[in-house]
Amino acid sequence: MTKAVPQNKKTLWYNLVFIIFCAGIFLFLWGAPEETTAPLPHDKNHEKFFSMGKKEAEKFCTQCHNPEGIPLPEDHPPKYRCLFCHKKK
Ligand code: HEC
Ligand code: HEC
Repeated sequence: MTKAVPQNKKTLWYNLVFIIFCAGIFLFLWGAPEETTAPLPHDKNHEKFFSMGKKEAEKFCTQCHNPEGIPLPEDHPPKYRCLFCHKKK
């Protein structure tokens, strides 16, 4: 007969910390990037891009978003493929 070994408190504590740690990582990977990057706006400048393919639409972005027009922020990440980061939604 096997008898359930009472789990000692220390092990329980480690397991709890581990679970919280994993949950933290999961939430970070799941939610973090999406929420901070502005999606493609729904306005008259951008509305037409929602019905286009991503690659097709991206050809037009820099007609307005360039240093002489509406410049990107100084600390903007590499801007190849706009719509991978600025999601259509
Ligand atoms: C006809 C000009 C024009 C074109 C083309 C254009 N934009 Fe814009 N965009 C603007 C203007 C003007 C603003 C700033 C006003 C605003 O916030 O709507 C802006 C703002 C933005 C913003 C910031 C929104 C925010 O919430 O602050 C993002 C992101 C953006 N554009 C992405 C894009 C992408 C991606 C494309 C290509 C698919 C694109 N734009 C094409 C004119 C344009
Ligand atoms: C690698 C991901 C990535 C790519 C690719 C990218 N961006 Fe961004 N963009 C960001 C991040 C991050 C910010 C800063 C956070 C924010 O304000 O949304 C930003 C900010 C902006 C802003 C200012 C938003 C604001 O709220 O003031 C505009 C406009 C913009 N990007 C347009 C573009 C355009 C146009 C392209 C393609 C030529 C592009 N981005 C490609 C990640 C990206």
